[in-house]
Amino acid sequence: MAQSAYQIRVTDTSDVLWETGKVLSHQSIHVPYGGSDLRSGQRCTWRVRVWDGNDQPSAWSEPAWWEMGLLHPIDWHAHWIEPGWQEDPNAELPCPYLRTTFSVDGPVSSARAYITSLGLYELFLNGQRVGDAYFTPGYTSYHRRLQYQTYDITALLQENENALGVILGNGWYRGKSGAFSQRNTYGERLALLVQLYIRYADGHEQLVLSDEGWKATTGPILSSDLQAGEVYDARLEMPGWNKPGFDASQWQAVSAASDRTDHLVATNGPLVRPHEEITPIALLRTPKGETVVDMGQNFAGVVRFSVQGPAGTTVRLQHGETLDAHGNFTIAHLQFASRKAPQRWQEVRYTLKGEAEEVYTPHFTFHGFRYVKVEGFPGMPRIEQFTGLALYSDLPQTGTFECSDPLINRLQQNILWSQKSNFLEIPTDCPTRERAGWTGDIQVFARTGSFLMQTAGFLSKWLKDLAIEQAADGQVANIVPSPQRARPGKAARGILGVMEGSAGWGDAAVIVPWTLYQWYGDQRVLEQQYASMKAWVEYMRKQAKKQPWIRRINPISWRKQEKRSRQPYIWDTNFHFGEWLEPDESFGPKLAIGMLKHLVFSAPLVATAYFANSTRLLAQTARVLGKDDDAREYEALHRRIKEAYRAVFIHQDGRIRPEKQASYVRALALDLVPPTLQRAAVDHLVRLIQENDDHLGTGFLSTPFLCHVLSENGRLEVAYALLKQDTIPSWLYEVKKGATTIWEAWDGIGEDGTPKGSLNHYSKGAVGSWLYQVVAGIEPGTPGYKHIRFRPRPGGGLTAASARYHSLYGEIASSWQMRDGRFALTITVPANTTATVFLPGAEAKQVMEGGQGVETAEGVIQVSQEQEATVIEISSGTYAFAYPFSRNNE
Ligand code: BGC
Repeated sequence: MAQSAYQIRVTDTSDVLWETGKVLSHQSIHVPYGGSDLRSGQRCTWRVRVWDGNDQPSAWSEPAWWEMGLLHPIDWHAHWIEPGWQEDPNAELPCPYLRTTFSVDGPVSSARAYITSLGLYELFLNGQRVGDAYFTPGYTSYHRRLQYQTYDITALLQENENALGVILGNGWYRGKSGAFSQRNTYGERLALLVQLYIRYADGHEQLVLSDEGWKATTGPILSSDLQAGEVYDARLEMPGWNKPGFDASQWQAVSAASDRTDHLVATNGPLVRPHEEITPIALLRTPKGETVVDMGQNFAGVVRFSVQGPAGTTVRLQHGETLDAHGNFTIAHLQFASRKAPQRWQEVRYTLKGEAEEVYTPHFTFHGFRYVKVEGFPGMPRIEQFTGLALYSDLPQTGTFECSDPLINRLQQNILWSQKSNFLEIPTDCPTRERAGWTGDIQVFARTGSFLMQTAGFLSKWLKDLAIEQAADGQVANIVPSPQRARPGKAARGILGVMEGSAGWGDAAVIVPWTLYQWYGDQRVLEQQYASMKAWVEYMRKQAKKQPWIRRINPISWRKQEKRSRQPYIWDTNFHFGEWLEPDESFGPKLAIGMLKHLVFSAPLVATAYFANSTRLLAQTARVLGKDDDAREYEALHRRIKEAYRAVFIHQDGRIRPEKQASYVRALALDLVPPTLQRAAVDHLVRLIQENDDHLGTGFLSTPFLCHVLSENGRLEVAYALLKQDTIPSWLYEVKKGATTIWEAWDGIGEDGTPKGSLNHYSKGAVGSWLYQVVAGIEPGTPGYKHIRFRPRPGGGLTAASARYHSLYGEIASSWQMRDGRFALTITVPANTTATVFLPGAEAKQVMEGGQGVETAEGVIQVSQEQEATVIEISSGTYAFAYPFSRNNE
């Protein structure tokens, strides 16, 4: 079924704000509002109806609504306030509690709270928590963009006295963060800005504001830090502190803080919320005698626990990802950061007040963990006293995948769990050691992640920070939001500064918006990011033109590199991480030597490939946006980079040196190999894989491309061999070792059980896109899945596979089975979309659909025969194809 027209009507309580009339158009997503100007706080109600292909109108939809935020700085009447006391910025500080009271004197028709903070906040009204989000106001480049949230508080107000209470936490603002656990990244003082707007039934209005009339004190949260954990003394609780009638006479005054409101923005991505409640699978006693709760799943979040015992008893929970080779609790493999925080790391300490049963859930911290070491517990803990709460940004899950191999299904679950664990406010590398918005990690994972979850809001929010933190010369920070760039005054840059702008990492500026466009078909993300994308490409262009510094100081040693350094399109300057973490250059001295090598000699083979790729994507973006001059300019630049790359790196026999799998995968995936040498390059790649006993040898950047490159170049069986491999390095080794998330290193837990690196790093889970697009066979044919390509490629001994993807048009499904020499494929194509189906190894005459010959089946537009597949064009609907199939066709 297709749409032929639509009509949208937007109203507020009194007026029609926008009436489109009947618009003849297929467009059913991303129609921007085009009505009269809207005011701060205005609530708009909208309805839509559509006409089908036969010009039959639907009924009007149920009304839906949106509400405008505070559009101008002058809408903020509240004042920033902070606790009135002095603090030592380098000490562990207790969380401030702030409160005020106000009176409501009549029936209220609607009320809103607008709130933000420096640091994190929890808001309470009359003793009730407002909202259920964690870590508000979220994480952005705070000095430039600070989000505020809006809550509907109408139902929480009461006649006469009301009390408003807020707790502040350190969070990313001034708590420890990043690879080096630095404090006070954005500032040393926590502060609050809150404004209640109350509209009475009789039309009069009232504002309740943060101002110097508020009071503040400290309470039971003695310290709270995203990395270190939380310390809570329940004996210091102040019952009723956030309710009317509480005696706050002993509380201290607050003072005015800076009055900036020009950087406030409404929440522009999903907030973090509690999701799965995880029931532990075992209570262990380790060889060392430790008591350890096994959650059965590695994830990011907290533990809610209950305890009963004498007042003053302190229970200590420490959270780790794994047990060591001897079965004892460990966090030693997360060394990097734990060295910086030797006293406390992912630890919660709770001191009992000594009442009946006490239940605690931490406020302003989260941990990456599966195991919880419990100390100081009064009596023997019972397993049912512990529940894990998975915390992540509230992105709906859009994709699923399943097949006949349970190990691959577990791999799929692990990919999803690593995404959940690392999509917490910003896309991070891991939820344990660094918790940083490493650009390279999301660059490699964006495609897989966008299949599994609705990433548009989450990633476009993050991209705004990427753009706003880009240096004047276009250089992209390696980590976004960038702690380095938040502290421009400090000798911040140092070694991390030298590493900034790495190829394959900075390219997130181009690859992530392009991926969002492919997935959601919304040009606005390209418009929003265009200047940033272009600036990054221009940055690379300038860097490539420069002479490598080593050549300037030592022209002789450089003679060997003469050919490439004369080329203005070979990027052979700057530090780059390179392919990063290939199996033979994993953790330890080899990694350090590799980095040193790149500091001295750069990494032109990798950097030039990404320079070419981002330039090509920028040219395509310019075409989409109708910027034809730019498109021509970057198409020409792309041609020159490609020619230079071929001249310098690709030998006449198709070899690329150093002869590593990644060298071939990268060049093939990024379209750098001339057509005449593609076959040879693929043969070289396959030879390297076979010499490695069917093991992969790629690192961070090329792993996502590896199977795609093989299946697209006629070597599907090699791709399946890699997928099904189960010894190091491989995806299924970790599954067999009991992994419940994706590991950073291929040997994250060695044969002998020794852990290494983070065990919750989604980057290598980027193989997911091959499972969904190639094994199950769903991929966008045009941006946003308006046209869908179904091209399942059975193999690897699988007898069935299926995937579902909830696109903006509706549910897309593909499910195949092989039984008794027949291949059966059922697919669903949502309304208002079309699809091309490739039936592997089919002959058109033999293909049945719903029990009849495919040519005459309903919805089939065209059937054609290619050498290896029957190709069918179809309109929306559900189809069941079946035909004789022999395994030789795999
Ligand atoms: C992080 C990575 C990141 C890398 C930069 C690591 O320490 O955990 O995921 O991309 O550094 O190479």
